[in-house]
Amino acid sequence: MTDYNGIKVFAPATVSNLGSGFDIIGFPIEEVGDTVTLRKSETPGLRIANITGYTGVPWLPEKNTASFAVMKMMEGRHLDHGFEMEIHKGVKPGSGVGSSASSSAAALVAANEWFGRPLTDLQLIGLAMESEALASGSRHADNVAPAIMGGVALVRSYDPLDVIRIEPPQELWVALLHPQIEIRTETSRKILPHSVALKDAICQWGNVAGLIAGLYSSDYELIGRSMQDVIIEPLRAELIPGYPELKAAALKAGALNCSISGSGPSVSAICRGSEQAKRVSRAMEEAYQPMEISYETYVSKVNNQGASVVETW
Ligand code: HSE
Repeated sequence: MTDYNGIKVFAPATVSNLGSGFDIIGFPIEEVGDTVTLRKSETPGLRIANITGYTGVPWLPEKNTASFAVMKMMEGRHLDHGFEMEIHKGVKPGSGVGSSASSSAAALVAANEWFGRPLTDLQLIGLAMESEALASGSRHADNVAPAIMGGVALVRSYDPLDVIRIEPPQELWVALLHPQIEIRTETSRKILPHSVALKDAICQWGNVAGLIAGLYSSDYELIGRSMQDVIIEPLRAELIPGYPELKAAALKAGALNCSISGSGPSVSAICRGSEQAKRVSRAMEEAYQPMEISYETYVSKVNNQGASVVETW
């Protein structure tokens, strides 16, 4: 056990699915993320002392993804102190870029550091999945894994959990447009089918295989054409006003491909290099202006770094 009085950890926002890789592929973006601070407290247990930034997340420790994750980690440990937690939400809840995952990843990495790093990344991902279940009713790992490990995370299997970290191609960028509407992951999962036609499954796993081959060989065109999603996107596109227009504009401006980021409403255009990403971002903005829905845009390189300790004292 280490002897800290406080630890502050930042964990990035994440783009997941990449079209065909529903629930199994994700990567972090740069700069945007949540920060969690853990402080030693004389009072046993865990208390949320403050939440700043975006609002709309629970203050009850058993309901908040960050505190819930740390409470799981505290189970069975005989601590002579408690914790106070501060959360800075830099990722808006319901945005499609892994808001709940950034919080739980930052919190778990902070607690793991505090306890002397007893858990592996895979074990942390397993715990963070419990927080995802709390937030959305589903134990998906495609946001928490990249938020913890950085790079492109591939969830090869959920049972048993097997996650592979892929080094992102050097010039892989993303242009994101976030319409300022909220779509809860729970809602956008409810509309999904429980079974798929074999011909669709064949199409999808061919694309996922192509996506992984493209990522490993830095074949940008292959990455782009392998993002084709015949199962999820046609259903979820209905939830995002202006999605077809955004996608068409991104493709016309040269994006490798464009898909819904996580469960939406953010839309992610994958690009080669910063210039292309900036051009695509401008084209997406122009396409969205007539929608009369406010929006924010981000342009980022695929981030190789996951959650990291900012400060200890
Ligand atoms: N893979 C998950 C989904 C990500 O698309 O529902 C949620 O952010």
